[in-house]
Amino acid sequence: MRRIEFIKISGGAATFVMLGGISWLLESCSKTNMMSIGSNSVLEGSFDYLLPIPQTLLGTNAIFLNAQHNITNIIKGKKSRVLGYSEGILGPIIKVQNGQSVNVNFINGIEEETNIHWHGLLIPANMDGHPENIVQSGASFNYNFTVNQRAGTYWFHPHTHMKTAKQVFKGLAGMFIVNDAEEANLNLPSGEFEIPIVIQDKRIYSDGSLNYSPTSEDVMSGYFGEHICINGAHSPYCEVKTRVYRFRVLNGSTARVYNLSFGNMIFHIIGSDAGLLPVSQTVNSLILAPGERADILVDFSALSVGSEVFLQSNTFNGGESQGSQSFKIMKFKINAQETENFTVPSSLSAITFISSSSAIRTRSFDIANSHGGMNMTNMESMAMTHNIGGKSFDMNRIDETVKAGDTEIWEFDNSMGTDLHPMHIHGVHFQILSRIGGRNTVQPHETGWKDTVLLMPGEKVKTIMTFPNNLGKFVFHCHNLEHEDSGMMLNFKII
Ligand code: C2O
Ligand code: CU
Ligand code: CU
Repeated sequence: MRRIEFIKISGGAATFVMLGGISWLLESCSKTNMMSIGSNSVLEGSFDYLLPIPQTLLGTNAIFLNAQHNITNIIKGKKSRVLGYSEGILGPIIKVQNGQSVNVNFINGIEEETNIHWHGLLIPANMDGHPENIVQSGASFNYNFTVNQRAGTYWFHPHTHMKTAKQVFKGLAGMFIVNDAEEANLNLPSGEFEIPIVIQDKRIYSDGSLNYSPTSEDVMSGYFGEHICINGAHSPYCEVKTRVYRFRVLNGSTARVYNLSFGNMIFHIIGSDAGLLPVSQTVNSLILAPGERADILVDFSALSVGSEVFLQSNTFNGGESQGSQSFKIMKFKINAQETENFTVPSSLSAITFISSSSAIRTRSFDIANSHGGMNMTNMESMAMTHNIGGKSFDMNRIDETVKAGDTEIWEFDNSMGTDLHPMHIHGVHFQILSRIGGRNTVQPHETGWKDTVLLMPGEKVKTIMTFPNNLGKFVFHCHNLEHEDSGMMLNFKII
């Protein structure tokens, strides 16, 4: 039985988690200038920090990623110690053409084990970053695979059991963009008009240091930071022209769900987790959970030079733990007039829908009772566990076995649940057949291929998928990373 130990420092303000005596993790414990952390309430900045854009590496070249400690400014003018795969945080962006083979030389330059999972890629099991395929501190690994899938915004991050949340929170994550001919034909906004937006909330002390230190309540609901950051910058701004922009949005937060909107402006969802939707969806807002991506087009042409628009998160009905506050995330300043003749294409991509009658089996997973409760060994030490259908993650147990080429329905049942769970399956893309309870409908961004689906309290969702011919062991789990790290993950094997 694995457990996380929570150790209370007597007299100190912090409760922090010990994951094996890592001194750098403890560095902020003695700080006296802590702000109130642990409260969910978001602190907006002054939106005068220019949005950083991570560096882009092309898959035509060998790629070098080195997990390392970096110093960066998350809050303007304050230094934070973070983790990155190259310089800074949350990058680089890897960009490949469908069909290309990719060669990533990875070095683990941090003092604990880590690895890389390629979220949304359909690649062999031994390249997928299963938590048993770890790279020890100081060791290296060559990730080598051929990309054979639709254009889309995928991403990569560590998948070390019980350390995923902390490592992602500290900055280890990046976008993995696949392009193909179908997408290129649409002539979507590109270059400076195509902007990556990785959203991550962080708890940051007033001196700029960050510390991943979930309390047992944080493990229960998820770890919420009061600083909402884009591409690693708190409350940034970006200058735009009066034209259409393409934003590739990734919710890279460990637990926080956002209800994204541009105030009164409508916008167009053109893609989600695994590429373009069949037709664009015009919306006012979009609920995006950890792990999910949205490809959106925003038209600033009706605005006048000098005006400002905010990307914000609106309130939503997210049970007890989420959605009660609305807050601004980043600012767009309209700084130049431009006339263009781009119109949002209504038809985007040819998608074949899988009919539910082609499924040979339905598997149901109860996630409503996924809080396994607290394991109190004494007053000072406790472990919070999560599960799927009563089972907590066991590295060696195969929970489900599926056959390559088979079509199955997987149903996640949160109808009696009180918490939110974004469920993610490795190694396969799925379509969403139905949602019953809660929002009671398939959402606009769920009308294409997905790899992660949010279940609000009270919801039951049916997904359908055909397993590809990548044999071996994969995982599926809740992408609330505190839930995942505390056991809300199972193994499945493709045979
Ligand atoms: Cu993005 Cu198993 O994760
Ligand atoms: Cu994944
Ligand atoms: Cu969960």
